[in-house]
Amino acid sequence: MTKMYSWPSGFIFVVVLVAFTGPSWAQYCSRRITGCCPGRDDSCTAPIGDTACYCDDFCLRSKDAADCCPDFFNNCTALSPPNPIKTPDCFYVGSSFFAGDSFKVDCNICTCLPTAVGYAIQCDTNTCLIREAIITSVNSEPNGWQAGNYSFLWGMTLDEGEQRRLGTKKPAPTVSAMKEINIDEMDDLPDSFDSRQKWPGWIEGVSDQGNCGSSWAVSTTAVASDRMTIQSTGKMWLALSPQNLLSCNTRRQQGCDGGHLDRAWYFMRRYGVVTDVCYPYKSGMSDTAMMNKYPCMLPRDLTTPCPAHYVTSEKYKVTPPYRISEKEEDIKAEIFKNGPVQATFLVKEDFYMYTGGVYKYTLGPVSAATEPPRSAYHSVRILGWGVDRTDPNIQRPYWLCANSWGEQWGENGLFRIQRGSNECKIESYVLGVWGNIDMDM
Ligand SMILES: *[C@@H]1O[C@H](CO)[C@@H](O)[C@H](O)[C@H]1NC(C)=O
Ligand SMILES: *[C@@H]1O[C@H](CO)[C@@H](O)[C@H](O)[C@H]1NC(C)=O
Repeated sequence: MTKMYSWPSGFIFVVVLVAFTGPSWAQYCSRRITGCCPGRDDSCTAPIGDTACYCDDFCLRSKDAADCCPDFFNNCTALSPPNPIKTPDCFYVGSSFFAGDSFKVDCNICTCLPTAVGYAIQCDTNTCLIREAIITSVNSEPNGWQAGNYSFLWGMTLDEGEQRRLGTKKPAPTVSAMKEINIDEMDDLPDSFDSRQKWPGWIEGVSDQGNCGSSWAVSTTAVASDRMTIQSTGKMWLALSPQNLLSCNTRRQQGCDGGHLDRAWYFMRRYGVVTDVCYPYKSGMSDTAMMNKYPCMLPRDLTTPCPAHYVTSEKYKVTPPYRISEKEEDIKAEIFKNGPVQATFLVKEDFYMYTGGVYKYTLGPVSAATEPPRSAYHSVRILGWGVDRTDPNIQRPYWLCANSWGEQWGENGLFRIQRGSNECKIESYVLGVWGNIDMDM
């Protein structure tokens, strides 16, 4: 293959490249520290004499190009001054970077920036959601639970985790002051109980709220669905639509930025929601939709077809929710008789990394992981209870809860949390509800 180029003196050189050295473009482009560029990029060049060779993939489009790249031949001489071979300005764990380059280390953006004495890598200092120190610390002690890394949470900051994976506002004083209903004492409650065994097929599976702080909507519709199915003895076997609630209950609610449970229940009672089949969940399912609040597709007073146009857009309502006391026996009796309840609790820094066992806030040696320690509210369903006897010397009573981070998290989407000591306030805000349904069906 031949390559012609002009020399400042005006001589014409003919360079014969030998075949075994590989494609001629590679000769020049291999000098680029960052290699060839994808697609067509006229600024992507490597020097040849006083001019330059294009190094983009576009150059490879024609096999019989006599040049180092086809688009070079026509205008290479116009290029001046040539691009010098750049030497990297910064180095970080074996990689080199030029001034202005950025990359991510876990949840932090690092950039190669000028300093008084040259260039240096400077990284943000956010606290990350997944922290090796916490995982190691939890697992090094017999806490009764284990911690691990989740790739879908890794790379997020703690702030992002709280904003996008939780989403229940602190219960308003009016909710905390809600009168508790009287629960008839039950003497013969079993040692362990799981709603899914008592009502097989009627309890909703684990959902995934995605990167959207929608637990207020997801836990509300899931508890309402379970209760309606149980109350109608399976005749109304339905999964209600969290998207309907999330997108349409916008009055003093903040969609994927979180919501209040009392307002959610008010909406469920006043307007109701359609089924999930009618109005499927979409929020937080892709990066671009992350913080997207989808507009309401079902104006609350109108009869409009389902956004997914193939079923009835009938709305289902509930009666006012009621509060169950913090007493362990009351919560158990309520679940045993009427089905899963909704619980609001404080998610602390170690919870995100839970992979199994009976959870209990445990930072161990990294107790001051962040200063001050952080927590935010979240709401989930309590499905039952039990006692973990993995360690023959310690009995660990727990609540069995369904989270909404998909089945890849925790124990197939569920978690167990210490029972009877109001761990992370799990026993403080427990709500139950009835469907507003015609029982004569
Ligand atoms: C080379 O030619 C291409 C197409 O003719 C043109 O788009 C490009 O800008 C030219 N590059 C330079 C550096 O002159
Ligand atoms: C967590 O997993 C991601 C990839 O899924 C990995 O890049 C990262 O190093 C892991 N972090 C820890 C602390 O193990």
